[in-house]
Amino acid sequence: MCFPICKTELSGCTIGERLILEAVVSNIYPILLMASVLAACATRTVNEAPHDPLQDYAEVDAATILDAPAPVPGSFAPEHLYQVERGEYLVELLGCGACHTDGALDGVPDFDRALAGSQIGIAYSNPLGADNPGVIYPANLTPDEETGIGAWSDIQIERAIRAGLGRHAGKQIAAMPWQGYAKLSQEDMTAIVAYLRSIKPVSYKVPDEVLAGEEAEHPFVYFGVYRSHIE
Ligand code: HEC
Repeated sequence: MCFPICKTELSGCTIGERLILEAVVSNIYPILLMASVLAACATRTVNEAPHDPLQDYAEVDAATILDAPAPVPGSFAPEHLYQVERGEYLVELLGCGACHTDGALDGVPDFDRALAGSQIGIAYSNPLGADNPGVIYPANLTPDEETGIGAWSDIQIERAIRAGLGRHAGKQIAAMPWQGYAKLSQEDMTAIVAYLRSIKPVSYKVPDEVLAGEEAEHPFVYFGVYRSHIE
């Protein structure tokens, strides 16, 4: 009922405010929040050009179906075939390639570099609130020793997948859904690690993390949940 009103009559609102209002009408936020956003719109002078926080962003298409790369024959003992195949199945099911394959976050995956890391990053601080959000780049998961996880121990890989404890000490990986992966059984985890060790090593170094406030030289996407400052 309120939806068209929000869209037409509140033209003085910024896009961010309108998004919040639309969320309000779908009952995501309490009514109090709506009142404060409305107040913010009302106090802005009519001639002030509204800042569009999305002006530097383009929509991306959903990626196509992602097959995980096949294991390299001879890279594992024959008795581990079942384990490696199960790992491949789980990696496809858990969507690892949707982030860890270059181009996939932009809808155009580069299958030659499947699971070898992405030069499209993911913002971990609010891009609508800061000009230069912090960005991390999904890592190279192939067994390349220099640029991938070839030199990582099983335990290190498992801690990254289950607990989000990656290469940035003291900070858990913001965008990866490790909270769900934490539920993996040890059998499934061992299968994933065995599979990742069986694929073709690809030498590819992903861009370094960009700290919040610094300018990113590579593109990034954002998705996530940002908490409002309103109590
Ligand atoms: C939503 C995106 C996303 C998904 C899905 C995802 N990851 Fe990640 N992953 C990341 C990001 C971002 C990083 C962090 C890179 C950093 O810390 O700089 C990361 C880091 C890692 C690391 C640490 C490696 C390193 O070199 O830092 C491992 C191991 C890993 N992911 C494995 C997986 C596996 C296995 C899956 C599927 C079960 C998976 N990830 C799914 C985004 C994702």
